[in-house]
Amino acid sequence: MAIRKLLIPQELFYGWGAVDALRNWPGKRALLVTDKIMAANGHAGKVAGILHETGYQVQTFDGVEPEPSRETIQRGAKQALDFKPDLILGLGGGSCIDAGKVVWLFYENPQLMELDWTQLRDEARRVKLHQKARYVAIPTTSGTGSEATPVAILSNHESTPPVKVRIVNMDMLPDMAICDAQFAYTMPPSVTADTGFDALVHAIECFIVNKPSEFVDDLAIKAFQTLYRWLPKAVHNGQDKEARERVHISATMAGIAACNGTTGLVHDMGHQLGSAFKIAHGRSVALALDAGLSYFFPRAEGRFLEAAEAIGLRPEDGKDAAVRLLSALTGLRKEIGIPLTIQEAGVSEELFMAVIDSMAVNAHTLSIRPIPEGPEKIRELFLKVWTGQSS
Ligand SMILES: [Fe+2]
Repeated sequence: MAIRKLLIPQELFYGWGAVDALRNWPGKRALLVTDKIMAANGHAGKVAGILHETGYQVQTFDGVEPEPSRETIQRGAKQALDFKPDLILGLGGGSCIDAGKVVWLFYENPQLMELDWTQLRDEARRVKLHQKARYVAIPTTSGTGSEATPVAILSNHESTPPVKVRIVNMDMLPDMAICDAQFAYTMPPSVTADTGFDALVHAIECFIVNKPSEFVDDLAIKAFQTLYRWLPKAVHNGQDKEARERVHISATMAGIAACNGTTGLVHDMGHQLGSAFKIAHGRSVALALDAGLSYFFPRAEGRFLEAAEAIGLRPEDGKDAAVRLLSALTGLRKEIGIPLTIQEAGVSEELFMAVIDSMAVNAHTLSIRPIPEGPEKIRELFLKVWTGQSS
């Protein structure tokens, strides 16, 4: 067996009430990076209260917006440079946790704030963190898995159409992740559906596109199985504590799998759809799912078979497995209210065709694992997203 490494947060607490683990991390000054929703619904106050009781002075930066811009992050980093925290926490959905990571990166390395996007992407990989602070991620949605990855996604709004930029630094893997479903309990059904479907896509995409690997496969397939079964329950009855906990923990498992494997075309294309048409991330990857996954058939025929069987389907062969799997996921989207077509998501043909070339080039250029056929093939797949054909 080849020697491999599994990247996971240094400490990962999960279970109802896991946020109390913060009490075991004494320090002096904590900066909480979050958004206005968390400030209003009491979650930010709850975390700040625990930190106060543990002896911290606490400041909150609650200016994170969806698809966070660089300007927002720089405002947070300037607050950190003034306040000098020894602990930074990201509390919220993926945007808040990603924003918190880059606030931390800039706080430890202020010279990065002067760089253009390309330089930032390159230089961010090389610098060190942990000279000034540690980082804790507390997800309040069950989706991105960012609490378990060393990656942050920012939006470059200066580009036309806007593009998402991946900032990666192995030191950005959170020191502590707290997966406490009490923070997900207040999510409205549409957010539960969008973010939970994103987690499910991390799991299935990771399983299909990566070479076999023990930990990654097991985490991915288990998370896929659990999300497929429990996400509809969490969407239709947000008070179902068991469903909330299962979905919340599975989202982190899928995040660990995707961090140690990779996502693929579904995410490459989904990021472009999300940025170009301002579609929520979970919906944009749902729209790219059929076209992006079917590219891997028949290359990954055995993986389609295993995945289909994992959710109780009984396919006759690999081809049948791919068809049944995609059909089951379409059924799930219907059940939880995620648009099935790009037209349903409110995009006109004129708008779509105006940016299809640039989306294909960006999806190829920014891909973690670019496909050998290049942007032309991705353009073909985007056309399938428009027509709704999956093969
Ligand atoms: Fe995602």
